[in-house]
Amino acid sequence: MSQYFNEAGSVEAVNSRMGPDVTPRLKEVMTSLVAHLHAFVKDVRLTQQEWEFAIDFLTRTGQICSEERQEFILLSDTLGVSMLVDAINNRRPPAATENTVMGPFHVAGAPAREMGARISFDGKGESCLFEGRVVDLRGNPVTGACIDVWSDNADGFYDVQQPGIQPEWNNRGVFTTGEDGRYSFVGIKPVSYPIPHDGPVGMMLDALGRGPYRPAHMHFMVMAEGFQKVVTHTFVGDDTYIARDAVFGVKQTLVAPFERVDGGETIWRSRFDFVLTPV
Ligand code: BEZ
Ligand code: FE
Repeated sequence: MSQYFNEAGSVEAVNSRMGPDVTPRLKEVMTSLVAHLHAFVKDVRLTQQEWEFAIDFLTRTGQICSEERQEFILLSDTLGVSMLVDAINNRRPPAATENTVMGPFHVAGAPAREMGARISFDGKGESCLFEGRVVDLRGNPVTGACIDVWSDNADGFYDVQQPGIQPEWNNRGVFTTGEDGRYSFVGIKPVSYPIPHDGPVGMMLDALGRGPYRPAHMHFMVMAEGFQKVVTHTFVGDDTYIARDAVFGVKQTLVAPFERVDGGETIWRSRFDFVLTPV
């Protein structure tokens, strides 16, 4: 093997430079990353022009990032990497509620609300009662579970995307279960919306003949002492985009019933139980 770089020995040339004090995990991850990256470049015989395009794409991805916009996470989401990392790290028993992508629109510190309270304050959309139970794998109620919920409004925007237009904390709230493990709140029937697509990720989706839309969903984060945190959504099953979510977040088990209620206080009702896995 030559001591200098050449095509055939490219992986070895880079990986053999690692110093003696590199941690075993960093060594494992970087050795594999370099091997796969070089294999990819060789596989597609990346041209100089394509390399320049890729550098420019990544530069623009970084430049559009801000406190409110995380384009690299969008890139990970739209390439299916976020869902893959989650799947590998959250393998659960079949009966347990599955995770899906967190997305960029969760805001910590949403107001704690009384069970049954309203979370939607802009007067838009069709009201929907969300209710169900938080239980363990045996079906026993989980007391003191914290349920943090958030959704877009009927125009397809989260409050943080429209500061000064939507009321603060619109379509957000935190609920704590009592001894029966039950939760309920009144929001709106979710609507589908596009992920931010005015940047490099939107350009990539366009070039690939893919759309930016996510099927209608309600976000839930469920946390309870002694149980794994569940970061998930419930989905509206008959949504146009259910089978082509831009970020691959849909799982069959997360499709929830949304039923019209005749003569009720809300137009819709959606029942869903969260089944927690012990840590
Ligand atoms: C969301 O559902 O809020 C979301 C998830 C991934 C990317 C963009 C938005
Ligand atoms: Fe969302």
